[in-house]
Amino acid sequence: MAKENFKVYVTRIIPQPGFDILHENLTNVRINEEDHLLSREELLENVKGLDGLLPLLTEQIDGEVMDAAGKQLKIIANHAVGFDNIDVPAATERGIMVTNTPGVLTDATSDHAWALLFTTARRVVESDKFTRAGKYKGWGPMMYLGGDITGRTLGVVGAGRIGNAVAEKSSGFKMQILYCDEFRNENLENEYGAKKVSFEELLSEADFVSVHVPLLDSTHHLFNDAAFKQMKKTAYLINTSRGPVVDEAALVRALQNGEIAGAGIDVYEDEPKIHPGLTSLDNAVLTPHTASATIETRTKMATMAAQNLVDGLKGKRPANLLNPEVLT
Ligand code: GLV
Repeated sequence: MAKENFKVYVTRIIPQPGFDILHENLTNVRINEEDHLLSREELLENVKGLDGLLPLLTEQIDGEVMDAAGKQLKIIANHAVGFDNIDVPAATERGIMVTNTPGVLTDATSDHAWALLFTTARRVVESDKFTRAGKYKGWGPMMYLGGDITGRTLGVVGAGRIGNAVAEKSSGFKMQILYCDEFRNENLENEYGAKKVSFEELLSEADFVSVHVPLLDSTHHLFNDAAFKQMKKTAYLINTSRGPVVDEAALVRALQNGEIAGAGIDVYEDEPKIHPGLTSLDNAVLTPHTASATIETRTKMATMAAQNLVDGLKGKRPANLLNPEVLT
């Protein structure tokens, strides 16, 4: 297969099969071999002269970055399903294609939402620390009491691919499903008896609130002081979507004041920083944005992003093009 000499940069180390696709098709592939988080200056420097960029969700790709790359930049192939790190309108204005990796991380991410739900409700992390510390001196009827899961009400905020999968996976636990979304989810309603309700109703009824909305102006700080006050004191918040959907300071207040029982959090408002209040709370289980972190899923994300990049450069419409208007 003839290789093309397009200049491409990959901003971190991704699973090898992704690099294999790039190397099989292109001769000029540069990688951030040190695998460190790029500073803004390093990003602006490294994009110069590129035809294609494969970034991660940690890099803000805005008009300034696109202009630093130059007019020849054809495609930005994000290694994530979420694309709030990319200014898509700015790319469209400049005729640059933008792609993402939908579908391949639906199961891993929804599995992780369940992992957080279990560990939070059943206080697994706290009791693991206690046990390891040699503090377990005998069974006690009042030790580490958590919240029931089976038969409770699951509230899914955003019933797209991942929210849908989280809800479907609740059926073994005989849960009632409430969801809120601008669209109806007929699969959840018809196959799982889910009820579409308002955000406020969901907050006041659900025992577990799992968040699956994209980060938009309208979802920024959707979970604020008022939202936490509407939730049950016995309820848990699970967030595997984007950090800024939750006002982290308000979440800390709600957890400290017992307005909610606990939270399982994978994403943060100002990653990688975490509100110091959150890290000192036992009723919060915190993971470092690893909801899609399985070998199989990260491999699929890498190959999908690489294939999108190669296709876009070779003049073939990438399968996951977010701004098809650039091709018209
Ligand atoms: C992960 O957060 C993703 O958007 O892929």
